[in-house]
Amino acid sequence: MLKHENVEKNVGLMAIFIAIAISFGGLVEIVPLFFVKNTTEPVAGLEPYTPVQLEGRDIYIREGCYNCHTQMIRPLRAEVERYGAYTQAGETVYDFTFQWGSKRTGPDLARVGGRYSDEWHKAHLYDPRSVVPESNMPAFPWLFEDTIDGSKTPAKLKALRTLGVPYTDEDIATAAEQTDGVKEIDALVEYLQHLGTVVTGR
Ligand code: HEC
Repeated sequence: MLKHENVEKNVGLMAIFIAIAISFGGLVEIVPLFFVKNTTEPVAGLEPYTPVQLEGRDIYIREGCYNCHTQMIRPLRAEVERYGAYTQAGETVYDFTFQWGSKRTGPDLARVGGRYSDEWHKAHLYDPRSVVPESNMPAFPWLFEDTIDGSKTPAKLKALRTLGVPYTDEDIATAAEQTDGVKEIDALVEYLQHLGTVVTGR
């Protein structure tokens, strides 16, 4: 018979039972989330990113903006008063990979869309200190010179479609002409201005 004492005296057996106990705890928490609709279904009005926004998002990731910025407003009073309505899971179902993040050197950007003008963003990204004197955000001047290679955009849309983002054949066919030659700064600002604009209010 398997006595508790035997388990405690046998490291291998103990490890196996610990693994089973922890996996069970994890599965009970994680598996139901796959079936709860409001964590997997898009919120009303959510559209896939336009090709230009998608390229802007890739620039955001390439430049490591997520190292200092989260995109997830937690349902806490202080957060909601500062940033706006808390983030819902259904707002980020087309985000692969999501940009929720956990490191806030700078403010959360989940609802930065529409908060500033395009000109403000450009001045800020070119030289953050020109608009926020105490800022320690780095400058990104090369975004004003480099342009997007549109030939790579259709493959990105196709890859997202296999993950369930509802891009049509037409979206994919016209993606390259929409992004080719667009300045990186313009794509990034378009992405920023779109952030968090589907759900509004507090
Ligand atoms: C080293 C950390 C760091 C990195 C990397 C960084 N930021 Fe920031 N960001 C900050 C800080 C700090 C602030 C607050 C001061 C300011 O407004 O400049 C800020 C502010 C902002 C704001 C204004 C937010 C608001 O609500 O006022 C935007 C927009 C922004 N950053 C976008 C970006 C983008 C886009 C990138 C990547 C291209 C980026 N940041 C990279 C630190 C960073």
